[in-house]
Amino acid sequence: KTFKEVFKDDFYVGAALNKYQIMGADSQSIAIVEKQFNSITPENYMKASNIHPEKDRYDFRVADKYVAFGLANNMKIIGHTLVWHIQLPEWFFVDDEGNQIGKDELIARMKEHITTIVSRYKGKVKGWDVVNEALNEDGSYRESKFYEILGKDYIKLAFQFAHEADPDAELYYNDYTMYKPKKRDSVVRMIKELRAEGVRIDGVGMQAHYILSEKDSIFGNIEKSIMAFASAGVKVMVTELDISVLPFPEENQGADISGNAEYSKLLNPYTEGLPEDVRLRADNYYIDLFNLFVKYSDTIDRVTFWGVTDNQSWKNNWPVKGRTDYPLLFDRNYQAKPVVNRIFEVM
Ligand code: XIL
Repeated sequence: KTFKEVFKDDFYVGAALNKYQIMGADSQSIAIVEKQFNSITPENYMKASNIHPEKDRYDFRVADKYVAFGLANNMKIIGHTLVWHIQLPEWFFVDDEGNQIGKDELIARMKEHITTIVSRYKGKVKGWDVVNEALNEDGSYRESKFYEILGKDYIKLAFQFAHEADPDAELYYNDYTMYKPKKRDSVVRMIKELRAEGVRIDGVGMQAHYILSEKDSIFGNIEKSIMAFASAGVKVMVTELDISVLPFPEENQGADISGNAEYSKLLNPYTEGLPEDVRLRADNYYIDLFNLFVKYSDTIDRVTFWGVTDNQSWKNNWPVKGRTDYPLLFDRNYQAKPVVNRIFEVM
């Protein structure tokens, strides 16, 4: 059995692909992707810093290969992401004299950026994460250069430009901690505001970077968010699913802890393998999530893992670098974990 067969009547199942996989340097992962999944997302290579590194220069090499792979395998190809305050090149907000640009220039640059990318893959990329992570957990708009210069209108403009470039593409708003009640309310309000203004938005992406120890405190709210988004009339995508088994430090984010023995013991405890009890708890988290997803399969259109195997997961390097995490369903030897067969029994 495979994910795409087992859940074919419920939702697409996909994975984020990294550069090695897209460029053909990781045939073991690609074999898993071809066998198991019917949707793909580019982990990094459609982000502005990679695809549009300089104002007058795009670099489509990896993105083109990514799209070709999806087409060759008949997959639902997702674009990620058009407007995000991270992995954004310096030039985006600065003019030739080094001064911050104004409203009109930023609108022009956003339009050019979005139109160029979406048009290139028109009819091929079927759904776009148009705006990523625009809200804080308290529901307010995130401070970013986009927000500072344009106010919340930048969100509407991004969706309009994407829609003009490919009227048939599905358009999504994507964010993390979508289970937080205030963020949920704010997303629902945003959907209604956009639609009231005649702007197309098809779905919301719940990033789903979960942490094992937080399960009990958030699980009920994950369901409430799915219900709230369903009531708002949009599709729900579970876009970046992984479950970290490691502690999530609020401090020193981004730091490399591999050289610090004391810190490593605390924050990187499973370098020799995952203890049985932790593994079982992580397995059960996945089972409970898939039960939930199947229960809401009318609303959930896609479930996408953020990566393929544990060894290549971004979770080994976030929120601190140099750890050994076990967030995905294929292990460091490219084997499906035993829990996969239990997930296939979920109905
Ligand atoms: C992450 C990638 O996985 C990393 O390789 C990269 O260094 C940083 O970005 N939210 C998102 C994703 O929308 O694009 C991020 O991906 C993870 C958090």
